[in-house]
Amino acid sequence: MAQHVGIDLGTTLSGLAYLKGDGTPEIVPNSDGERLTPSVVYFDAHEDVKLVGSAARDGGDPERTIFQIKRHMDDPDHVLEIDGKKWTPSEISALILSKLKRDCEKIIGEIREVVITVPANFNELARKSTIAAAEMAGMKVKRLVNEPTAAAVYYAQTQNVQGRVLVFDMGGGTLDVTILEVKGGSIRILTSEGARHLGGSNLDDLLVTAFEEQYRAQTGQGLYTDERHRRRILQSAEDAKKMLSKLQRVNDTVANDQNSGLARIDLTREGFEGLIRKMLTRTVLLVEQALDSAGLKVSEVDHVVLVGGSTRIPKVKKVLEKFFGKTPKSCGNVDECVALGAALFAKSSAKIQEVCNASYGTLAMIYNAATGEEKVANSVVIPKNTEIPCSRSQVYQTSEDNEKVIEVDITQGEDEDPRFVDVIGRLTLEVPPNRPKGCEVEVTFSYDENQRVQARVLDKASGRVKEVAVTYRGAGVLSEEELQRRSQHLRAMRIE
Ligand SMILES: Nc1ncnc2c1ncn2[C@@H]1O[C@H](COP(=O)(O)OP(=O)(O)OP(=O)(O)O)[C@@H](O)[C@H]1O
Ligand SMILES: [Mg+2]
Repeated sequence: MAQHVGIDLGTTLSGLAYLKGDGTPEIVPNSDGERLTPSVVYFDAHEDVKLVGSAARDGGDPERTIFQIKRHMDDPDHVLEIDGKKWTPSEISALILSKLKRDCEKIIGEIREVVITVPANFNELARKSTIAAAEMAGMKVKRLVNEPTAAAVYYAQTQNVQGRVLVFDMGGGTLDVTILEVKGGSIRILTSEGARHLGGSNLDDLLVTAFEEQYRAQTGQGLYTDERHRRRILQSAEDAKKMLSKLQRVNDTVANDQNSGLARIDLTREGFEGLIRKMLTRTVLLVEQALDSAGLKVSEVDHVVLVGGSTRIPKVKKVLEKFFGKTPKSCGNVDECVALGAALFAKSSAKIQEVCNASYGTLAMIYNAATGEEKVANSVVIPKNTEIPCSRSQVYQTSEDNEKVIEVDITQGEDEDPRFVDVIGRLTLEVPPNRPKGCEVEVTFSYDENQRVQARVLDKASGRVKEVAVTYRGAGVLSEEELQRRSQHLRAMRIE
C-alpha cells in the first residue's frame, strides 16, 4: 500500500506523487505513460466508457468533452447533462481522480489516503466538493492543503528556500500569489491573492485570435465554424506558445474547416509578448496587492519562487525579475512541484500556519454617534489573514422589542458597505417571547485547518445556540448516503 500520496487536481493538468522509501517525492506516471494527466473527461456515445486525460482532450465531440471543471467547483448549479444523466463538478472531478488512482495503483500499490491540493482562494463549497470528489473516487482525504503551501514545502525541503517567500503560481486557469514565511520546518502563510482567468488558457485564447487574423489576412476566410475545429486550433496555439518559451520564432500551417486552403502562421516571441502585455500587467498588479495585503515592501521578500506551467514563459520571469530586482527561483518541474510538495506534506512534520482567505462577519445596525444615524453595515468578526485554526466572537444586541426570531446574515468580504460583500448564509434562532430590545447575542465564527468555516449564534439570556457550516448558498453538499451511492456507482464504471 502506498503510504504518503499527494494529488494536485489542476485546472488543466493533474498529477499524483508519492514518497519513496528514501523520503524523496516522485511523480507516478499514468497508464498512458504521462507524468501529468490532462484534467479532461470525454463521455463516449457508443460505449459506456469515460475517457480521462489526453485521449479525452484530443478526442471527438466537444459537447461530450468536459474541460476545466475545477473552475466550477464552487458552483453546485453548474450541472452538466450527458445522455440523460446529470453530472456535478464534484462527480466530474471524481472521474479524473479515479483515473489517477487506478493508473498509479498499478505502480505503487493501493492508495487509500491522500493529501489533495486546492487553490488558496478556494471557498468552503469548492473545498467540500473536492473532498467529496476524492471520497467518490474511493480515497480518504487526510488533509486539503493550499497549492502554494505545497509548493513552498517542496522548495523549502529540496532547494532550501527560507525566509519570506513569494510563491507566484501561474497555471492553466488561474494566477495565485501567496506570501509565506519559511523558518526551518515551519511555514507561516501571510497572505494569498488570486485571480481567475489569468492563466495559460487565457494566453491560448489570445493566440487563437492571432491565428485567426493571420488566416483571414491570407485567405479572406474565417478559420473555424465549428467547436471541434476551434479546439484543434486551440491545441495548435498552445503548442506554439510552449515552443515560443524555447524558440524566438515558430511557424505552423493551418487549414479551416471549410476547405478554404492552407495558411502559414508565423509567430515571434516578441509578437507573443506584445499580445500578452496586458495580462502581464495584471500579474504585477496582483503581486502588488499581495504585498500590500501583507504590509510588506518589495525589498522585504527574500525569494520569489515560480510554480505552474505558465511560469516557463521567459517574459513572465523577466517581468518578475525587473519588479523584484532579483532572479526568481525555478525548480524546473514547475507543473509538478505542487503534487511533489503534497506528497512531502502527507508525511512531513512541517508546522504549517495558514491564514483564513477571506473576512467573515455579519450584517448589523451600526450607530454613528457623530451623525446620530443608524445604518446597516458589514461587521467583520474574523478579518482576512487571521491565523487559523481560530475562533472569534462578537456580541450584538437585538434591535426590536418582542423579537421572536433572531436572524444573523453571514457575510464574506472586507467592506463595511453591505453592497460590496457577499451574504453567504443566514442563521435563524428562535428565542423566548416578550423580551425588550437590547438582548445580547453572541456571534462566533470558527475556522478549521481545512479552511472550513462554522458560524454559531448564542442567545445569551436563554442559552439557546444554533450552529451551521458556512457555505456559499448552502447547497451542493452531498449527504453521507448519497456519497456512498455515487461512490459505488463510480467504482463500477469503466474509466480509461
Ligand atoms: N513551456 C511552456 N511555455 C508556456 N506555457 C506552458 C509551458 N508548459 C506548460 N505551459 C502551460 O502551463 C499551463 C498548465 O500549467 P499547470 O499544470 O501548472 O496548471 P494547472 O495546475 O492545471 O492549473 P491551475 O493551477 O490554474 O489549477 C497550461 O496552460 C500550459 O499551456
Ligand atoms: Mg496548478
